[in-house]
Amino acid sequence: MNPFFANPTTDPSELYRLRDGIFAVDLLTTAIVEFDVITKLAAAPGDLAAVCAMLGTARRPTDVMLTLLAANDLITKAGEKFYVSERGREHLMTGSQWCVRDYFASLQDRPVARDMARVLRTGKPANWSSADDLDNWHDAMEDENFAREFTAAMDCRGLVLAQSLAAAVAGDLSSSSRMLDIGGGSGVYACGLVHACPGLTASVLEKPPIDAIAREAIAGRGFADRVEVQVGDMLSDPLPAGFDVHLFSNVLHDWDIPEVEVLLAQSSRALPSGGTLLVHEAFLNESKTGPLPVAEYSAILMHSTQGRCYGQGEIRSFLDAADFDTVRYQDTTADRGVFIARKR
Ligand SMILES: C[S@@+](CC[C@H](N)C(=O)[O-])C[C@H]1O[C@@H](n2cnc3c(N)ncnc32)[C@H](O)[C@@H]1O
Repeated sequence: MNPFFANPTTDPSELYRLRDGIFAVDLLTTAIVEFDVITKLAAAPGDLAAVCAMLGTARRPTDVMLTLLAANDLITKAGEKFYVSERGREHLMTGSQWCVRDYFASLQDRPVARDMARVLRTGKPANWSSADDLDNWHDAMEDENFAREFTAAMDCRGLVLAQSLAAAVAGDLSSSSRMLDIGGGSGVYACGLVHACPGLTASVLEKPPIDAIAREAIAGRGFADRVEVQVGDMLSDPLPAGFDVHLFSNVLHDWDIPEVEVLLAQSSRALPSGGTLLVHEAFLNESKTGPLPVAEYSAILMHSTQGRCYGQGEIRSFLDAADFDTVRYQDTTADRGVFIARKR
């Protein structure tokens, strides 16, 4: 038993939720105050494209905003169309006697709320809040200090999540032998999976300087004989051959739909027929109206990355388009889950 992969006795999910939901109130404030979305939507219900046109906002962040409003029961969704709910109408529509829009207005100049307005208008991510002097999260990851701090954050989170992922998929990997952990960070998920699957070895694909950080972390946990690290760019280099399992853990949600399609096409080209693809992160429900913790998490991804949380239906259709059959979806822990898919 490797001491790093022992389960805690208490559940950390609420702690994860506090951290992951930190930007949600800023997004709600901006939506309600600056864009007055509830008043406008009450007058003109519409689908995502119509809301973007009405507000002058970009599709990706508007999608995240509408999901967050729906998850808070401020709007409802029927088919593809959004309507203001009774709760939204009473408490956030200008003119209602119980309207608390001005209560939120007292928060509208918080720096992240200002960022949210810019992200909504431009579609481009804002700076990572602890790296204001660095252009954006992906560029910031080329800075050694930022990369270490960020990779450490992903790594400690992964100690619990990796075990839950491994428990969910170990049965599916019983005859698999080599896994490529694409954008694998510190390698904590690769280590957790090989720990749970005795027949499996893994390779973590990362960009510099994270590759060196991963090598240290993997050796420090005693997995250097079963988990290697290779340098590559998952978007522009062909993925290496010779693997029968691919893992994208918390990777797709960093990217907008065109890059997600590129990543899945890359995986599809490199995996043999019958190969297994695992997509692990936090997913929205089919209608993208919740669950609330994932809708809140999507706000930080929208703000700081080029991505957002995807709905389960969206992932199924991306997988299908990339020549994968979805075998199943399974919840893991702390609002995360995994899609298990097979290359056709
Ligand atoms: C949010 S982190 C997820 C890390 C890890 N898989 C996890 O679940 O914690 C995304 C990772 O993707 C990596 N990444 C981003 N762009 C990449 C690229 N073009 N090629 C390879 N890795 C990349 C980053 O370095 C980062 O470690």
